Amino acid sequence: MTTTADQSLWLAALSPKTRPPLTGEHAFDVAVVGGGITGITTALLLKRRGLSVAVLEAGRVASGVSGNNTAKVTALQSTVYSQIRSKHGLPAATDYATASLAAVAQVAELAKDIDCDLRRSPAVTYAYTESERRDVDHELIAARQVGLPVRSTTDVDLPFEVYAAVRLDDQLKLHPVKYLQGLAEEVDGDGSRIFEHSRVLDVSGNRVSTAEGAVTADKIVIATHYPTLDRGLYFARMELTRAYCVAARVSSPPEALAISTGSPSWSISAHEDKVIIAGQSHSTGKPVVEPFRRLEDFAREHWQVQEITHRWSAQDPTAYDHLPMIGSYLPGNTTMFTATGYMKWGLTSGTFAASLLADLVTDKPNELAERFSPHRLSLKSLPTLVKKNAEVAAEMIGDRVTPADATSSEDLPPGHAHVVRDGLGKMGVYRDDDGKLHGVSMRCTHLGCLVRFNAAERSWDCPCHGSRFDVDGSVLEGPATRPLPKRDPR
Ligand SMILES: Cc1cc2nc3c(=O)[nH]c(=O)nc-3n(C[C@H](O)[C@H](O)[C@H](O)COP(=O)(O)OP(=O)(O)OC[C@H]3O[C@@H](n4cnc5c(N)ncnc54)[C@H](O)[C@@H]3O)c2cc1C
Ligand code: FES
Repeated sequence: MTTTADQSLWLAALSPKTRPPLTGEHAFDVAVVGGGITGITTALLLKRRGLSVAVLEAGRVASGVSGNNTAKVTALQSTVYSQIRSKHGLPAATDYATASLAAVAQVAELAKDIDCDLRRSPAVTYAYTESERRDVDHELIAARQVGLPVRSTTDVDLPFEVYAAVRLDDQLKLHPVKYLQGLAEEVDGDGSRIFEHSRVLDVSGNRVSTAEGAVTADKIVIATHYPTLDRGLYFARMELTRAYCVAARVSSPPEALAISTGSPSWSISAHEDKVIIAGQSHSTGKPVVEPFRRLEDFAREHWQVQEITHRWSAQDPTAYDHLPMIGSYLPGNTTMFTATGYMKWGLTSGTFAASLLADLVTDKPNELAERFSPHRLSLKSLPTLVKKNAEVAAEMIGDRVTPADATSSEDLPPGHAHVVRDGLGKMGVYRDDDGKLHGVSMRCTHLGCLVRFNAAERSWDCPCHGSRFDVDGSVLEGPATRPLPKRDPR
């Protein structure tokens, strides 16, 4: 086990029956790489338009971030409208609202015949402290301007006083793994197929290859969360942030899908007899202090917690200009498409991304295509882009000159890691609970930044573009695709 995070509340529902991996050569109209909300919804919409579709999923359908979230499907998303309005203006914020409302309606429609615990719930953006009131007030104005039927209230279904809140009724909560498995059932069959345990290693022209097989397709959709293949410089235009979640059994879980606007932000939702608290966000690879304990303390402060039942964490990318990136993988390319950058709201935006991708794949005009194009240039956000890449450059240089922690690992306690000098470089050494040492080169195989140990998850995380590796160097999350070389620990 490479992470202290238990499985998410949702992954326990993953069907034990796996689909076979891709072997041999096959031809389909469309190859979709990735079986999360984006990939499975896109595949379903394309199949309903009469195309044959292959989904190639490295693990299991819904085992990515789509199975590791807080399961809110809502058009009210913290302070997203004030942020988009300030970076792109009101028309862009209005487009995002229109697409999000349509996505919520689409999920409700797609889910109606699936046993996925679907419920209508109000979504709430709230001020947990007095100082957050201003952001809530701004979001109320922005949400009204973009046409959302929101209202201002302090009467929300939470066991503590809020200073202000924006409320949008009739949003959704569901069981994301059951939902995606239900959609996948419809995708698989009648000339379309889902292949699990089928990691795509290369895309060359119209050919998508795994270790044991290949698919040729007229169109290819890369729906791998971070766009795999590492072409198109997506890593330089996005930031990955990790967040942590705990589920706690309580006697009266709240109805609202709530999130506070401050830092730290406290996200609250519920499933059956459990309240879910999420937060403690940080850029991947940056330090974090006991995130699970802080979330558990928050739960205990406000509810009579009977038991903490689940702990999990995940990360999601945000584009430098705060809009999802949906469209052709490379400028002008009409065969390969991608979608990413959902800012931790991808159950909604992954759904509208699927509608847009389905239109692009079938050459159907879509008025949102330009708005969400991955190749747009936001002049207003250029300083953010420059700053982000300057920080990455500083990481690349800075870590190399800091000294190692130790010369030997003799005294390293179980469950801990440190940095040991390794010739001219550095080696990361971790001691597992059985006392065994694990050594890896600390140079990220993406572009060479030095990885850092994440104690909450027992992984080596890269501060530059968010790649993560387990204690033996295997890739947990890209953009890196190659493992960290192993080293003999000492
Ligand atoms: C802590 C947290 C809480 C969140 N809560 C919410 C929420 O309440 N509401 C909401 O709307 N959003 C939420 N989100 C965001 C949302 O879960 C994601 O934006 C969304 O699930 C992303 O979907 P996806 O399909 O792009 O990625 P994924 O679900 O990660 O799917 C990508 C799939 O691609 C596969 N893959 C990767 N590489 C390859 C390859 N080379 N070959 C084949 N397959 C590959 C992966 O195995 C994975 O299954 C949250 C995010 C976080 C981090
Ligand atoms: S993820 Fe880019 S250098 Fe590590």
